[in-house]
Amino acid sequence: MTTEQLRGHVTNVGDHLDLRGEMFPVDREIGPTACEIVGRVPANLRGHFVRNGPNQMFEPVGKYHTFDGDGMLHGIEFLADRVVYRNRWVRSRGLMAEIALGRAVYPGLSDVMNFPEASLVGGAGPVKNRANTHIIRHAGKLLALWEQGLPTEVTPELDTVGEWDFGGKLAGAMTAHPRIDPRTGELFFFSYNLFPPYLTYYVADATGALVHRVDLDMPAPIMMHDFVITETHAVFMDSPVVFDIKALGTAEPMVAWRPENGTRLGVLPRRGGPDEIRWFEVEPSHIQHFWNAWADGDRIELAGCRYEKVDFGLQAEDAEAETGVVTIGARPAKYWIDLSRGAAGWEPLDDMLGEFGRVNDDRTGLRTQCLYMPAFTRPGALAGQFDTIVKYDLRTDTRTTWYAGDQGYIGEAVFAPDPAGTAEDDGWILNLSHDSGRNRSEVLIFDARDIASGPVARVQLPQRAPLGFHANWFPVG
Ligand SMILES: [Fe+2]
Repeated sequence: MTTEQLRGHVTNVGDHLDLRGEMFPVDREIGPTACEIVGRVPANLRGHFVRNGPNQMFEPVGKYHTFDGDGMLHGIEFLADRVVYRNRWVRSRGLMAEIALGRAVYPGLSDVMNFPEASLVGGAGPVKNRANTHIIRHAGKLLALWEQGLPTEVTPELDTVGEWDFGGKLAGAMTAHPRIDPRTGELFFFSYNLFPPYLTYYVADATGALVHRVDLDMPAPIMMHDFVITETHAVFMDSPVVFDIKALGTAEPMVAWRPENGTRLGVLPRRGGPDEIRWFEVEPSHIQHFWNAWADGDRIELAGCRYEKVDFGLQAEDAEAETGVVTIGARPAKYWIDLSRGAAGWEPLDDMLGEFGRVNDDRTGLRTQCLYMPAFTRPGALAGQFDTIVKYDLRTDTRTTWYAGDQGYIGEAVFAPDPAGTAEDDGWILNLSHDSGRNRSEVLIFDARDIASGPVARVQLPQRAPLGFHANWFPVG
C-alpha cells in the first residue's frame, strides 16, 4: 500500500504550552530512509521499534492539551544490513475530514462534547479518534490505541487500514494498555465509560476473536488508564479520578480528584463473571501505568508508579498549567493483595519521580525482577520531559541510572529481548530520545544488563521526533 504523504500546518499561533519546544509537531512524513548509526547495532536485534505520540496537524480549536494531538507513528526497522526510519500520521476518519476542510474542527478533550457540525465532518462522527497513545501487535494486527475509541489497524509500513472492532463485537472503546499473555497469546483489555456500565472487561483469544465480555459494577465513572493480569486473574484499580457528568459543557472540571471516593483494587478471574470480582480497599492513590503483576500463592503483587493525588491539567485555566506533573509526580511503589486474609496495602519502592514503567514483556503476569522507568530529575520538568533512564533490580535491591544530559530528553524504555538470552534482562533497552542542544533525535540502544554504561549504539533519525507517549518492539517472526 502506498499513501500520499501528508503535511502539517501548525505554527502554534495560539502559543499553547503543549505545542512548544520539544513538543512542537513535525510537519512532514518521510521515509523509508536509511539511518546513520553511531556504534554497533547488536546482531540479534531484528524487528520494528514503533513509537506513538501526539503530532497535531492543524492549529487546534480552542485549548490544546498534549492528549489531544493527532497520532503519529515513528517506525525504526532493524533489518539485516541497515536501519530504516519512517513516520506516518494515523489517518483517522476525523483527521481525514479535517484534511478535506483544510483546518481542525474537533475540539480538545477539555471541550470534547462541543461536537463539530455533522455537515462539516459527515460520516467521520462527533469525536476524532486520535489513536495517539500506544501501539501493540496481536493476532498479526498492528493496532494504534487511544483509550476513548476503537483500536486503529495499521500495516507494517504504518499506513492506516482503519478502525478494528473485532468483527463487530467491540462496540466501545479499548484501553491503550491492554495486556498480552505471551504464553497463551490472549489479549486482555477494558474500556471505561462515562455512563453505565462504567467498566467493561474483554478477552480476545490468540486468533484475535473476542471471546469474553463482562460489565463490571463501579460506583462512579472514572478515568482508568491501565490494569494488570496475573497467570489467573485480571486486576483493576478503581482510583478516584472521577468524571463529573454534570460538568460537561460547563467551566467546571470534567475530571476531578475525589479522594473521598477511596481507592480499591478489584481482582477478577481471567474469564470470570460480574459477580466474581473481589474489591480491596487501599489508601487513596492512583497508578497511571503499572509495570506488571504476579501471584505468589494467595498474594498478588502489583508494581507501578504511584500518585498521591492526580492533576492532568485537563481543565486548567492558566496556560502554564496545561500539562500536569509539574508539581505532582508519581513514585515507584508496590501494592499487594492478600486474597486469603482479605487485605491489601502498599509500600514505596523508591523516591525518584518517574512514569511509563516497562518490563520484559515475556514476563507479563509473572514475577518480575527488572523494572525499567524514565525519570524526571531536572526541576520544573513538564509531563513527558524525562531525562534519566532507571533500572531497578529487585534481586539485588539496586538502582542504576543513565542521565541524558542537560538538554537531553528520553522516552519510554522498551525492552527488546535477546532471542539467544536466558536471563530476564538479556536484551536491550530501546529509547527514542531527543537532544535539544544538537537538535538530534535518536533511538538509543542500551545493553539492558548495564544501562549505566550508556548506549551501545545510537540510530540517528533523519528528522526530529517530538516528545511522545508509548512505544513497542515487534521482533521479526
Ligand atoms: Fe499510557
